[in-house]
Amino acid sequence: MSGAPELGGQVAIVTGAGRGIGAAIARRLAAGGARVVVSDRDLAAAEEVAAEDELLGADRTDVADWDAVHDLVARTCEREGRLDIFVNNAAITIARDFWELEPREWDEVMAVNLRGTLAGCRAAGERMRACGRGRIINLSSLGGQQGSLANGAHYSASKAGIIVLTKEVAAELAPHGVTVNAVAPAAIDGPLVDALPTEQRDRIAAKIPVGRFGLATEVAATVAFLASPEAAYITGATVDVNGGLFMR
Ligand SMILES: NC(=O)c1ccc[n+]([C@@H]2O[C@H](COP(=O)([O-])OP(=O)(O)OC[C@H]3O[C@@H](n4cnc5c(N)ncnc54)[C@H](O)[C@@H]3O)[C@@H](O)[C@H]2O)c1
Repeated sequence: MSGAPELGGQVAIVTGAGRGIGAAIARRLAAGGARVVVSDRDLAAAEEVAAEDELLGADRTDVADWDAVHDLVARTCEREGRLDIFVNNAAITIARDFWELEPREWDEVMAVNLRGTLAGCRAAGERMRACGRGRIINLSSLGGQQGSLANGAHYSASKAGIIVLTKEVAAELAPHGVTVNAVAPAAIDGPLVDALPTEQRDRIAAKIPVGRFGLATEVAATVAFLASPEAAYITGATVDVNGGLFMR
C-alpha cells in the first residue's frame, strides 16, 4: 500500500472476527490504517487475531445479546472517541434438513444472523447518524439470494433478510452521511473446503465459473472498498463475491 492509508485515523468494529472471513476483514481494515476491534463470542480466538497487529484489539460480544452489542458500541466510542466502520459478520448455522428443522433452531440462527445484524445496525447507526458519517457493512450470502441446500432454510432466510434489512437501514441513514451495504460471498476457501478430498474439491471448483474457490482476503478487499471514502455514493447495495455462481 502506498501513500496515506485510506482508513487512517478511523475506528472499526468487526463482529465474529476471531477466524475466517471476519478475521480477514479485521486484518484488511487494519492494513488500511484503521484501529479495529476484533469482536467475537470466542474471546481467545479474538485475542489470537488481535495479537498480530497493534491496530487490532480484542473484545468478547455475543451478537445475539442485544444489550451487549449496544455496550460494545458505547465502550468503543468512549475509549476511541469515534466509530467509523461497523461490520456485521458473525453468523452461525445448524446443519438441518428442512423437514427436521426445529422452531428453536430457526430462532437461534435468526437471533445471531438477522437480529444480531439488526442490533449492529441500530447501535452503530445511532452513533454514526449523530456524527454525520459512517459505514455499515453486512455479510449476506449466495444462500440469501438463491437458497442453499447445504446450510438450510433457516440460514438462507436469515441471509435473505439481511439484504432487505440493509436497504431499510440504508434509506434511513443515507441523509446522514452513513452508507449501509451488504456483501454476498459464496464458496470461500476455509477449513470446511480444506477438509474435502482433493478430487471432490476439484469437482466443486470446476462448477464455479472462475474455476476455483474464493479467498477470504477477496471478501475482505470488497468490504474495505465499501468502507472507504471512495464508496460514498454506494448504499443499499449487495455486492456479490461468488466467482460467477450467481449473476444478476
Ligand atoms: N465461508 C463462506 O463460504 C461464506 C459464504 C457466504 C457467506 N458467508 C458469511 O460470511 C461470514 C463469515 O463466514 P465464515 O465462513 O468466516 O464463518 P466462521 O464460522 O468461520 O466464523 C464465524 C465467526 O463468528 C463467531 N460467532 C458465531 N456466533 C457468534 C455470536 N453469536 N456472536 C459473536 N460471534 C459469533 C464465531 O466464533 C466465529 O469466529 C458469515 O456471515 C457467513 O454467513 C461465508
